[in-house]
Amino acid sequence: MVAFKGESVSPLHVRGGEELNPYKMVIAVANQKGGCAKTTTAVNLAAALAKGSKRQGLPKAKVLLIDLDPQGNCATSFGVEKKNVKKTSYDLLTNDSGEELPLMEEYLIGPKELTESMQDAWSLRNNNKKAPDSVSVGHLWLLPSDIHLSGAEIELSHKIGRETRLREALMPIIDEFDYIIIDTPPSLGLLSINAMCAANWVMVPVQAEYYALEGFSMLMNSIKMIQRRINRNLKIFGIAMTMVDARSKLSRHVCDEVNKKMPNKLFKTTIRRLVKVAEAPWSGAPTVLLNKPTNSGAGAGSLEYWTLAKEFHKRVQEMRREFGVNEVPRLLGSRKNR
Ligand SMILES: Nc1ncnc2c1ncn2[C@@H]1O[C@H](COP(=O)(O)OP(=O)(O)OP(=O)(O)O)[C@@H](O)[C@H]1O
Ligand SMILES: [Mg+2]
Repeated sequence: MVAFKGESVSPLHVRGGEELNPYKMVIAVANQKGGCAKTTTAVNLAAALAKGSKRQGLPKAKVLLIDLDPQGNCATSFGVEKKNVKKTSYDLLTNDSGEELPLMEEYLIGPKELTESMQDAWSLRNNNKKAPDSVSVGHLWLLPSDIHLSGAEIELSHKIGRETRLREALMPIIDEFDYIIIDTPPSLGLLSINAMCAANWVMVPVQAEYYALEGFSMLMNSIKMIQRRINRNLKIFGIAMTMVDARSKLSRHVCDEVNKKMPNKLFKTTIRRLVKVAEAPWSGAPTVLLNKPTNSGAGAGSLEYWTLAKEFHKRVQEMRREFGVNEVPRLLGSRKNR
């Protein structure tokens, strides 16, 4: 049995070695290109899906966000100070105890702690005022990372099952979450391979700039190689254009080219380059929680990420219909013990 803080115990479905069903949403947010908004997209999607919004037509979901990047930016995005982080994805990947891995709750930062961290960070930046209620999240868990993870690639390089460590660790808890979202580093090394081996879907943020096109082909080849060699369940869930400048011809050209290369995969929602999105980590909360979504002004970035989360959710529902999944998705709130 696995119980998370603030949750009642629910049955554990051990799925060791079993292949992932297409309705299981384990999503690696990946692109070896640095700075294309992988973390920003992972963090805002995770927060929006976990928070839900009646107004945006998005039901609440239970979400696990995994940071597999040694930069450890996911924790910072929720105002969690790195010195307060106890166990990380490094400990998880390098755990050699051989037991059925692991008592996951030891590793995760739960919704209560995430909310407290965000509220403390907000107060610190705003003359000790009380943080608004929107700066909170009820169904989100975070497996943080820190710089130690940078040594994991070398440490794991001679170990058996080095590519499947995350997958094995997630198997015992996979049924506990509606979505597991994995943020990856800007490289295609062992950490990204672990993420794409544990996932059944890849979400690719692409920055709307010229060099993105070169990196894009490389990424598609790597995904194909992973599909062929280690995870034939891996599929591309969607491509999100980020840091778009609607006035720039180049931005539009890159969006068109990506659409030509991967028809039907591009999300309709694009994320513009907006100062409030970049400022959000400094205030210690993702923009979707920090800024009220509005058509223009301070809430524009928040609205764009809420809209992306909504499109994401719609795509999940369509995909489940397409695969003929009869099981009622937990997304729709069928679980009693949420
Ligand atoms: N829509 C946006 N508008 C403005 N700035 C943005 C936007 N999205 C992300 N940024 C900023 O761009 C920088 C890179 O974003 P982010 O860290 O999410 O990228 P990344 O792909 O995770 O980077 P890395 O490859 O280093 O992990 C950050 O400073 C972030 O705040
Ligand atoms: Mg990142």
